[in-house]
Amino acid sequence: MQTHEIRDRFTRHFVKSGHTAVPSASLILDDPTLLFVNAGMVPFKPYFLGQQNPPFENSTATSIQKCVRTLDIEEVGITTRHNTFFQMAGNFSFGQYFKEGAIRHAWSLLTSSVDEGGFGLDPELLWVTVFLDDDEAAEIWEKEIGVPKERIQRLGMEDNFWHMGVPGPCGPCSEIYYDRGPEYGIEGGPEADDNRYMEIWNLVFMESIRGESDANGNFEVVGELPKKNIDTGMGVERVACLLQNVENVYETDLLRPVIEAAEDLTGTKYDAGSQQNDVRFRVIADHSRTGMMIILDGVTPSNEGRGYILRRLLRRIVRSARLLGATGETLETFMNTIMDTMTPSFPEIADNRERIIRVAVNEERAFLKTLESGTQRFDVAATAAKEEGAQVLSGEQAFELHDTYGFPIDLTMEMAREAGLEVDMAAFDRAMSEQRNRAKADNRAKKHGAADESLYRDWVDNQPTEFVGYDNLVHDSRVIGLVRDGETVNEAKAGDEVEVILDVTPMYAESGGQTGDRGRIVMGDTVLSINDVQKIGKKLWVHKGVVEAGGLDLGSTVRTEVDEKWRHGARQAHTATHLVHAALREVLGPTAVQAGSLNKPGYLRFDFNYTEQLTDAQLEEITTIANQAVDADFAVNTLETSLEEAKAMGAMALFGENYGNEVRVVEIGGPFSIELCGGTHVAHSSQIGPIAVLGESSVGSGARRIEAYSGMDSFRYFSKEAALASALAQEFKTPSEKLPERIAELADKLKAAEKEIAQLHQQQLLSNTADLVNQAETIGEFAVVTVKLPNGVNAGDLRTIAQDLRGRMVEQAAVIVVASDNGGKVPVAVAVTPAGVDKGIKAGDMIKLIGGYIDGKGGGKPDLAQGSGSNVEGLDDAFRAVKDEIFTK
Ligand code: ALA
Repeated sequence: MQTHEIRDRFTRHFVKSGHTAVPSASLILDDPTLLFVNAGMVPFKPYFLGQQNPPFENSTATSIQKCVRTLDIEEVGITTRHNTFFQMAGNFSFGQYFKEGAIRHAWSLLTSSVDEGGFGLDPELLWVTVFLDDDEAAEIWEKEIGVPKERIQRLGMEDNFWHMGVPGPCGPCSEIYYDRGPEYGIEGGPEADDNRYMEIWNLVFMESIRGESDANGNFEVVGELPKKNIDTGMGVERVACLLQNVENVYETDLLRPVIEAAEDLTGTKYDAGSQQNDVRFRVIADHSRTGMMIILDGVTPSNEGRGYILRRLLRRIVRSARLLGATGETLETFMNTIMDTMTPSFPEIADNRERIIRVAVNEERAFLKTLESGTQRFDVAATAAKEEGAQVLSGEQAFELHDTYGFPIDLTMEMAREAGLEVDMAAFDRAMSEQRNRAKADNRAKKHGAADESLYRDWVDNQPTEFVGYDNLVHDSRVIGLVRDGETVNEAKAGDEVEVILDVTPMYAESGGQTGDRGRIVMGDTVLSINDVQKIGKKLWVHKGVVEAGGLDLGSTVRTEVDEKWRHGARQAHTATHLVHAALREVLGPTAVQAGSLNKPGYLRFDFNYTEQLTDAQLEEITTIANQAVDADFAVNTLETSLEEAKAMGAMALFGENYGNEVRVVEIGGPFSIELCGGTHVAHSSQIGPIAVLGESSVGSGARRIEAYSGMDSFRYFSKEAALASALAQEFKTPSEKLPERIAELADKLKAAEKEIAQLHQQQLLSNTADLVNQAETIGEFAVVTVKLPNGVNAGDLRTIAQDLRGRMVEQAAVIVVASDNGGKVPVAVAVTPAGVDKGIKAGDMIKLIGGYIDGKGGGKPDLAQGSGSNVEGLDDAFRAVKDEIFTK
């Protein structure tokens, strides 16, 4: 049974019994505790906690959620049970059916026949586990379902109590396992062997709330949820394994084709006896899928957070493919293959194929380049280590390879092993954790004072901020939180830098690319100036500022005022961003997908996925279309609606949006621009004023950036440009429209003059070489020139002179060594005539010999070599050594 059919059957089974089918949420949700969605229940968290009412008929739902777990990337492929991406099929009851309902639903789907729409698994092969003291569940399994007592096992916290790893909903669970038979391991049920007995479904009886972990990772149950709920998770891939009768997930219909593509590309066979190669194949299959799915949800490679995970995944694929024998690029093939297998279940892939390939291939190309330069760097470091007699490559060098060249540490370790070295891992880990601490500190400094967002969790969960700033610039608020130096405090005094949390605020918090508002919080004589507003967990506004005068207590009622001028500028820039975006898509087509944006008063930048540089004509056209939209004075309309509705209107839906929520749509000029956006905007497009596009540039990984000014800043920019043009026109004594021509003409003249100077320099340089020929010494059968030229002659000139001398002495067996002192550096060039080479002298060897005397190194061919050192004092000895060497020939 194909995987997408397993999905369909699951959904049909639960819809039939009244569950609402909910599409998978994006892998990326705005939850500060999660890098990626890692369980089916994540998007439903507010319903379990009772913060929101579930918007589903019957208060039950079913979903097949995309999940990513990347904690143990290094383990992937070594065992065959874990994948970094998987699909969790689940059914959810919010205060409706509980243990018995959940157990019955699961059992009937697993065991009813294929003809009846089930999975047709043999009930005799199913085992279950329950939490230690959960007699109720054990009884249901035994009495209601008829599972014999011997196949019901009781396990502890570790296995049968489910929680998210962080404070939140939790509860005891019951798991269903399938016995794959003696060839997979020993008897004795899941307790004895979880390879033979494969877990396929986890039923969580979600009834409690857990608290913070202590140092050992233990936690306490701190309360009960308002209702008893059900959260279940069935591993779609694991069920596919059973129903396709294959040994592991890599053999299923979704991943096997990638392994086959890798066999074709590398010429190596999977499952041919090499465990190491098999792991590499599995890494390719697993990471290709995860990489593709997270690119689909909007992640691009970078050096932190999700982007870094993507980078690691893609680089590990490239490297595994190379180790298996691939020589060229591979990701396009792997991405195409995995997109083919995944599209039936995720049709949205079809519209994103080109973008996904572009992101992956760009990363591959960048990595192949670093792989080359990093390998050279590695070789130098490894050779040096070995020459010093060391057996260890230092942690600092491994860190540099990681940090500068993007080498995953396992790559460095592998290369070190091949070179007979080990990596000093303790030092490497130290360097990594120092870097992490630096990044954390940076982040702290940038965002909020508090080290850790858990400080805000209570407010996020229980007292989210009400934002009233679309319609108000001034509002009364109550101070419900004060944070200073990362700790909650009850008061703030003049001079304090504080973060203020209010029940209601008109101030816009940074999001959707728009920077936070500036403004003031006042109360009598007390004035706080607010210079940043950040949002936590999408729900809590943190106002960052300084108490300028007076003081403030927790609980005070204050007036919160947005700086009107600031807001006006931010609105102009944000609406301008939408116009530029719309213009861009008109000119470049729909594949130019937004990758990020920033707008603040007077300035905007817009990043989008596109591989080619834009032409001047395209930029000009984009600017014109955007300004025509300003001139058209379009009304800017906002409305709140469902995501479905918004998509139907043609809204450009960006990644990271959760389903089910009401979304805000900003529409300008009808179909001209419709976007999902929570930002603040002008009422009419003409209020933006002129938009001045400054240019475009590459921001790496297949993304480009357009920058522009808006409003008065555009005017100031234009007027500065005009002043500059007029100053240049005067300077060059030509009307401004003729400036390009005039400057090109001057540049040509300059180029011609430079060429002439270079020729003269060359002539001068070589005018004395005839003398040098006369100074040649005769040593044995050789004519030898060793000379230190005047200080300041650079390496390029030395080479020219050496070659010239070689030409003049070409009839003889001649060796020419020229050196100079160039500001502390000692460049050297050695040339040997063909007759000299025939008689056994190689320029490359001579350079190495010289290097030993002048603390330098170098290399080259038998007839010409170059090098450089740092000890000019050693030059005489070096010359003598060269002559001695020649003498012995
Ligand atoms: N939330 C449960 C799990 O992830 C179903 O296993």
